[in-house]
Amino acid sequence: MIKKVKVEDLKIGVFVHDFNCDWNGGILYIEQNLIKSKNIIDILKSWRIKEVYIDTERGLDIEGSKTPRKARSKLAGIGQTRNVARPKVSLAGELPVARTITQDAIKIMQQANQQAMEGKLSDAGPIYDLADRMKVSINRNRDALLLLTRMRKKDEYTLYHSISVSSLVLNMCFYCQVSDHQALDLAVGALFHDIGKTIVPQDILNKPRKLTEEEYREIQRHAEHSVDLLSKVKGLPLECYDIALHHHEKYDGTGYPDGLKNGQISYGAQLTCICDVFDAITSERCYKPGMETVMGLRKIYEGGETFFNKELTHDFIRCVGVYPVGTSVVLADGRKGVVVDSTEDMMRPIVKILYDGNNKEPIIPFKIDLSKTDDVIATYGDPKIIGITSRKMLKKSLFTLSKRGHTKEL
Ligand SMILES: [Fe+2]
Ligand SMILES: [Fe+2]
Repeated sequence: MIKKVKVEDLKIGVFVHDFNCDWNGGILYIEQNLIKSKNIIDILKSWRIKEVYIDTERGLDIEGSKTPRKARSKLAGIGQTRNVARPKVSLAGELPVARTITQDAIKIMQQANQQAMEGKLSDAGPIYDLADRMKVSINRNRDALLLLTRMRKKDEYTLYHSISVSSLVLNMCFYCQVSDHQALDLAVGALFHDIGKTIVPQDILNKPRKLTEEEYREIQRHAEHSVDLLSKVKGLPLECYDIALHHHEKYDGTGYPDGLKNGQISYGAQLTCICDVFDAITSERCYKPGMETVMGLRKIYEGGETFFNKELTHDFIRCVGVYPVGTSVVLADGRKGVVVDSTEDMMRPIVKILYDGNNKEPIIPFKIDLSKTDDVIATYGDPKIIGITSRKMLKKSLFTLSKRGHTKEL
């Protein structure tokens, strides 16, 4: 059984399922492990981690610790007040446009990173143009860009991360009705938020083992490096520098570089921080698996008690939805499928059914709007639960392509 326990209650012989130390954009990853010495407990305390998740079937139990409520039941209450606008364009209609934007975005950001490294980054014009195209796409259909940025391979994290964080920021701006002008500034800030990492050695950034104190400090310096690099860019608004410098500040003052608290942290930095952590913990990396979306949302929810602005975390959960497009699900009657659209009820999306519950063979796919039926989702998450074992199969299950390469059916 997975249980949440206080770090101060940990003891030798306990198996830690989740060290709960991914709040800094995924740069403090430790593999699940059996505690064999007090050393690891002292390290967790020095990192100010207060709680971890243990697996009582793989190690000792700790009396009196709580079994966390199921992730979905925690999130369901928040979703009751969700208000999502219907998309202006279908997912199938927007995907080809979003695909072109994503491909262009990768080239534009690679070029910007290269220019930054050479000290030649002086024009933010192409980044503003890119942010504007992303904003227009998200206003037409909020799922298309997010879906494509999530379908990356594990070695593509660095390329996609800033584009994915910026897409999440724009989604939140759209959901929270932030003005177009401010949304663009925040999106550009998010695209540039980690540009200082171009100065940090790659072997430290991608180190598969625990970082030394000095290596950790080196990574933390990327926030200041970002501001130095951006200072050469003409005409950037203050929001962009602020996001670059403060996207690792935490609501309780435990972040860096300035240890800002609560209202001292700007809206843009708070928003980018949540989107940054969510993208990092749900992404597969060369040294760690990606967390399921629902688990990632639960982490964000729990962070609302300490690290993040609580109201903003609730808006984020409503905005992303418990079952984003592309989530594999099994219904209570055994039928299996993939979420292809959201509804106003966060727990009841539209599902494309691919397999009958009684028969393991695929059937002719059809869609069910769960908000209009009594069917409920029983299991979710790993695509393997419905027999999808590769990204290619997931793409194929979501849409089919015509001979000309246009998406024709969902
Ligand atoms: Fe960062
Ligand atoms: Fe980041």
